[in-house]
Amino acid sequence: MLDNAYHGTTASCSGVSPSMSTGSGRPSPDFVYQSQDVLIATQPDPYRGKFRYAAHSDIGTKYAQDLEFTLAQARGNIAAYIHESIQGVAGQVIFPEGYLSKAYEKVRAAGGLCIADEVQVGFGRTGDYFWAFEHDNVIPDIVTMGKPIGNGFPLGCVVTTPEIAAAFDDAQYFNTFGGNPVSCSVGLAVLDVLEKENLQQNAKEMGEYMLEQLRQLQKQYPVIGDVRGRGLFIGVELVQSPQTLQPGTQEATYVWERLRDLRILVGKGGKHKNVLRIKPPIVINKSDIDLFIEQFEKILKELQEGTWKEMTLIQRIRARSIEAKKPRFQSKVLSNLAAVAVVFGLVRLLTK
Ligand SMILES: Cc1ncc(COP(=O)(O)O)c(C=O)c1O
Repeated sequence: MLDNAYHGTTASCSGVSPSMSTGSGRPSPDFVYQSQDVLIATQPDPYRGKFRYAAHSDIGTKYAQDLEFTLAQARGNIAAYIHESIQGVAGQVIFPEGYLSKAYEKVRAAGGLCIADEVQVGFGRTGDYFWAFEHDNVIPDIVTMGKPIGNGFPLGCVVTTPEIAAAFDDAQYFNTFGGNPVSCSVGLAVLDVLEKENLQQNAKEMGEYMLEQLRQLQKQYPVIGDVRGRGLFIGVELVQSPQTLQPGTQEATYVWERLRDLRILVGKGGKHKNVLRIKPPIVINKSDIDLFIEQFEKILKELQEGTWKEMTLIQRIRARSIEAKKPRFQSKVLSNLAAVAVVFGLVRLLTK
């Protein structure tokens, strides 16, 4: 498994999810989520990882060579290599070009299977391809799918090769609701809508538009260290300094809470909790994006003014929330008038 990965919270899934150990933003050295016999491979993070676009060349190959050290530790006893096709909880980490294809070669040469987790990024969200692993031109042995497959309906799915599926014939595996017709109908309906409404193309076009707008903001606001994304799976990494890459953790919390005040929900992730995770509904349109950018810029200006630093984070967020909820002059006058009218009515009733 990869460092900082997230694959779910059931026992076996959390055992391959190192991000669970740092999920609260605090490292918890006493309790690291890691199943026995599972090794953690280096996270191929091109922005702040061991090899970076800014400092090295051909980093896809370098990270894949690094994986060989992990495979060597297993001494030829590899069951599988599991990865998210783009890491989500880890902060929208897009692997460098060539990494996955070379990693797959090495895992297979060591006798292992390759498992791609498409729970967050599958079903057209990344624009150019229906599956995010396709960007790296690989074909996994097992693909896990969830979330968008049911568009809110609780549905998950595993796709694999006939050979691996046949291995279940001998296993004592049974699942009461597996393959039930209602869930399958929902899944098929979602696929129909994705196709009929051309939503993969929408993800591509709207994603490009949003990335372009965010890159414009990056030029003006140095707190934005990195803007990255594929389709509508976008990350904005905040830093205190673009030179040192000191994480902008408090800044990210401030932006995240302020956006929520303004009725816009984004995620927050990364080992340092300094990455805004933008993954809007795939039906989003240009005017939604313009609204988001406008509000985001407003908050970036607040950060730049610097006054927010004089208060504690909680005070800052509360102060802004109170301000956002203050009634407008007109509604204040109206509510005062209404109160006077009620009192007047009561007095008349009592004096009748
Ligand atoms: C990448 C990834 N894999 C797996 C899961 C687990 O899915 P579920 O919560 O449906 O078990 C999640 C859930 O957030 C996820 O984001």
